[in-house]
Amino acid sequence: MNQTRIHQNVSLKKYHTFAMEVKADYFVEAQTIEDIINGYQTFPDLPKMFLGGGSNVIFVNDFHGLIIHNKLMGRKILKETSEYVIAKIGAGENWHRLVLWAVSQNLGGIENLALIPGSVGASPVQNIGAYGVEVKDVIQEVEVFNLHTQKLETLTNQDCQFGYRDSIFKRDLKGKVLITNVTFKFNKAKHHTFNTDYKGLSEALESVRQIDVEVVSKAVIKIRQSKLPDPQSHPNSGSFFKNPVVDEDLMKNILANHPNIPSFDLGNNKFKIPAAWLIDQAGLKGVKNETETLGTNPTQPLVLIHYGGATGDELREFIDFIRTTVDNKFGVTLETEVNLV
Ligand code: EPU
Repeated sequence: MNQTRIHQNVSLKKYHTFAMEVKADYFVEAQTIEDIINGYQTFPDLPKMFLGGGSNVIFVNDFHGLIIHNKLMGRKILKETSEYVIAKIGAGENWHRLVLWAVSQNLGGIENLALIPGSVGASPVQNIGAYGVEVKDVIQEVEVFNLHTQKLETLTNQDCQFGYRDSIFKRDLKGKVLITNVTFKFNKAKHHTFNTDYKGLSEALESVRQIDVEVVSKAVIKIRQSKLPDPQSHPNSGSFFKNPVVDEDLMKNILANHPNIPSFDLGNNKFKIPAAWLIDQAGLKGVKNETETLGTNPTQPLVLIHYGGATGDELREFIDFIRTTVDNKFGVTLETEVNLV
């Protein structure tokens, strides 16, 4: 068995992109499955939490338990044909670096998902998506360590029950498994169908004569950089709320008063509305809380920025304020996309 170092009283600020000043009682960097097992066996009765890139979780309180930081690395090509490549990637790998690698190999599938913060292991959990592509479109299998049986298991794409920012890992398997590897199917560029219809992306590519993975990834990077703040300089967790889905009656009601509201018809009398639009039209674009420790991003208000020194209570109050203001104006309740711990 290898030596697993367990650290005590560790600041979590640099381990989540919202950068709240909170601490964990115990913390382990898991580079191997043994590190995870050792952590478990050392603290059988304490609460435990797995952490990847920390871009979709916000610690609002000190964590009285063990944080297991997923640092399981590796990039293995399992199969290559003239049409595609199957690659198994360690869950602790950085997501954007994987995108850059795929682009450098001229492999298609995740070029629209460039610059999404977080780790490879976190990508299936909330089925990350951007510019008309979701990671479920390229995932073949997800390998997990079952904490109950202490064995590795493999879930097929179907088993993962992917939905909009949703999967089985957020529901039935929450807290029961740790994602260890994700297997992707990437297309060789010649056999790849690009997804460039998304408003904004199609405009950015209008003057491009020859579309390829690099061109698309660069366009996505440019759009994201122009709208979304860099977590390094402006701590944030990406989209803070989900885009709400409303039924036809409510949609009609809102349209009567706000004929310009953008919406996306999902079928079955359901409509998705951009939360950014609701927050913007509620007058909350670029606003700050009283202590100026938190604010909505001035270029894409769906992103909340932590300007430093915010307490968990201040964050909760700010979230409540945004939700109540939007609810009072439109009758739509926003749900957080990030997990508050
Ligand atoms: N809008 C405004 N005011 C603004 C910004 C946007 O009214 O200041 C309206 C516009 O009508 C715009 C619409 O909101 O067309 C949608 O905005 P955008 O295209 O920026 O996308 P989004 O729906 O807000 C989603 C994802 C993002 C992803 C983008 C691009 C969710 C919750 N968010 O945002 O994902 O990058 O689409 O595909 O689905 C993330 O999950 O962390 C994330 C950043």
